Amino acid sequence: MSVRTRAIRFAGIALAGTLALSVSACSDNGEGGGDELVTVGFVAVGPEGAWRQANETNIQESFTEEAGFNLKYAPATNLDQKSQIDAFTSFVDEGVDVILLSATEGSGWEDSLSRAQEAEIPVILIDRGIEPDNTDLYVTRIAPDNIAVSTSVAEWAKTALPEGGNYFVLEGPAGVSVVNERNEGWDAVIGAESSFTKLGAQTANWSTEEAKSVFETVLKSNNNDVQLVFAQNDEMGLGAAQAIEEAGLTPGEDVKIATIDGTKGALEALAAGRLSFVAEYNPLFGDVAVDVVNKVLDGESVEPYIIAESLTFDSPEAAQEALPDRKF
Ligand code: AHR
Repeated sequence: MSVRTRAIRFAGIALAGTLALSVSACSDNGEGGGDELVTVGFVAVGPEGAWRQANETNIQESFTEEAGFNLKYAPATNLDQKSQIDAFTSFVDEGVDVILLSATEGSGWEDSLSRAQEAEIPVILIDRGIEPDNTDLYVTRIAPDNIAVSTSVAEWAKTALPEGGNYFVLEGPAGVSVVNERNEGWDAVIGAESSFTKLGAQTANWSTEEAKSVFETVLKSNNNDVQLVFAQNDEMGLGAAQAIEEAGLTPGEDVKIATIDGTKGALEALAAGRLSFVAEYNPLFGDVAVDVVNKVLDGESVEPYIIAESLTFDSPEAAQEALPDRKF
């Protein structure tokens, strides 16, 4: 833990104004010696698809030395929570200034977060929430609003299928907060529509291959009588499209597919008519995270949930328009 942050914490609010001012000026220009860099421990998810790649690269490209940071990137080993808890523990023992956490599992973080609190190390959640959502144990969560994003998908489904229809949900891994939040937004709208029939839901672990095999079985066991797929991420939506094509059906016509993330691959598929709706889940909020870390270290208060604004794409034209400048 650098001298700077320990001083702020112990000096308390009274001094914060002036102290904060002088210190932040120093870190911003990176002058003033090594220990002026703020050490940030990033307990990350690691390889998990296009969205994750975009998000974690953006975080790493935002917390640079030029910006006054020494970022320690600790991706999970095969999405394993124990490897994340171990990394978190070593960051606390090492006395980093701040911890960023993207949890592979929602539950099981109470002890780790309490230890960070005892060590007075602020923790900021990146994308993923914790369950139960005890906001006393972390400073803030930065992420798009999963409930609002999946609500936008459901609202589109109502307009795209005014007669309703049979639908299936391809979910992310069980136990991940965003999965429950996305179900919540979707069910609140579609669950209330009697014209829509839920055939079922199954995890495909954010994977195109798994989604393809899951949906092949769904088509077979329902004699292809499925009109809609809600895929909780792009990769799984693309897997469903492959299964539909292999069943001799046409995605976008015989079966409509809606996805969440907004990656380049999904927009290309929407532009080609293979997907029908794509709700962005904006991964590029590294600059917001830097701003939040600086505010927190300067003793300023921040909102408990900071939402990264996201767009929606409901036509091939909208996708074609967005593709040229797409960064992820
Ligand atoms: O937590 C966000 C989800 O994790 C994305 O929607 C999915 O693609 C990623 O793997």
